[in-house]
Amino acid sequence: MKQLTIRTKLTLWYAAMLILLLGIFIPYLYISMSNMMYHSEENLIKLHITQALSAVDIENNHIVFVEPKELIRSGTYIYIFDVKNRLINGPDANPEIIDTVPLYDKPRYVSVSGSKWLILDQPLQNDNKTIAWIRASRPLEPVSEALHSLIMISLFAFPIYLLIAIAGGLFISGRALSPIDKITKTAREIGQGNLAQRLNLPKVEDEVGRLALTFDEMLDRLESAFKRERQFTSDASHELRTPITVISAHAEESLIGQKSTQEYKESLNVILKESRMMGQIVSQLLMLTRSDEGKYKLEIEDIYLNIIVNDVMQEMQKNANDAGVELKLTVNESIKIKADQMLITRAIINLIDNAIKYNKTGGWVKISLYTNEGFARLIVEDNGIGMINDEIPNIFKRFYRIDKARSVKGTGIGLSLVQWIVNAHKGIIRVESVFNHGTKFEIDLPIE
Ligand SMILES: Nc1ncnc2c1ncn2[C@@H]1O[C@H](COP(=O)(O)OP(=O)(O)O)[C@@H](O)[C@H]1O
Ligand SMILES: [Mg+2]
Repeated sequence: MKQLTIRTKLTLWYAAMLILLLGIFIPYLYISMSNMMYHSEENLIKLHITQALSAVDIENNHIVFVEPKELIRSGTYIYIFDVKNRLINGPDANPEIIDTVPLYDKPRYVSVSGSKWLILDQPLQNDNKTIAWIRASRPLEPVSEALHSLIMISLFAFPIYLLIAIAGGLFISGRALSPIDKITKTAREIGQGNLAQRLNLPKVEDEVGRLALTFDEMLDRLESAFKRERQFTSDASHELRTPITVISAHAEESLIGQKSTQEYKESLNVILKESRMMGQIVSQLLMLTRSDEGKYKLEIEDIYLNIIVNDVMQEMQKNANDAGVELKLTVNESIKIKADQMLITRAIINLIDNAIKYNKTGGWVKISLYTNEGFARLIVEDNGIGMINDEIPNIFKRFYRIDKARSVKGTGIGLSLVQWIVNAHKGIIRVESVFNHGTKFEIDLPIE
């Protein structure tokens, strides 16, 4: 059975079921038909013998019998015998029927020269004395002939039914399974690198229809995943190329001729800055890819958010001073949450870093932390350059930077990482911004 197609298997099952059904049905039909026909023959002979009895007259101890016309026509033969079993009246054919010993009131089947007959005997009484007896007999040949034709017709029809069933089965299963063939064909073509292909079968709410729909949806997901992957690789290489170019340019420049110590130092500083930047990009990229693969295992522990925020503030203080931005901190309580310390620190750094970078000289960054309805709420607010509303949905996308020409350095990974970190901790991130006035990021992290 293994090598057969589903279509053939279905058809074979179908045919087998039909053979089984007909195998049960035809004998059943034959048996009930023959029972019914023999039963009605018995009823008929009983009726005819009563009709015959009422047609008998006794005149001066003589039996007078005038057979009614309908009895003659009915095919029932009537015989009258005296008590000594001598035939008084009746057709003289069929000596075997005449010779059969009488048995009153019970219809019997007898075989007469190869064919079956039904006979019924009844005593003929006068003044409570049996004076003769009467026998009715009917040939059963018409009945057996009818049953024989029934069998013949059934046997003849059997292979025809079977053929129709097989042809119908092949047709219906072929139609039902043809979308599957299409799915297979499309899947093969897609194997050759064409992810834009779709089945686009008409929407039918059956098993195969759902399969086709699921298949198309899967292709949608695959296609966008591949696209994202390609985009990611190209963006990542692009982001890494800039610092590499800067580094090589400075190294090459330093190698030409003699330079003062001051000049070497400057070049080395640039190289250090750029390589740190690359280190940042690479480590953030690594985090993102691992989070994508679902491989990142959070190291959850009890952490004090107020301490982390304080530490980050201190670390960022130099950046803020360089940018001429004032950092203000409002933390009034000690807040303990269960979280991955490294990731949470990363998220806070990224937010404060943005608030400093996208600011103005003389601007400020306010950081506040407090508890709110089972959540720890961290707000990073600045009065910097802000964003136009249309851009806000994009800033969490990887490598997305508003207006790349802004002189500020960046990779566009920062916020996508922040968003992932917040989601991974079942938290919520919100952002509000007014162009040229400032931006406010708000993060809620569950305390338990
Ligand atoms: N506090 C902010 N004020 C104004 N714009 C911001 C702020 N934070 C983020 N942005 C915008 O969102 C973009 C994406 O931010 P991010 O993912 O951190 O990338 P990057 O900082 O490397 O440019 C930034 O390029 C910037 O245009
Ligand atoms: Mg950033």
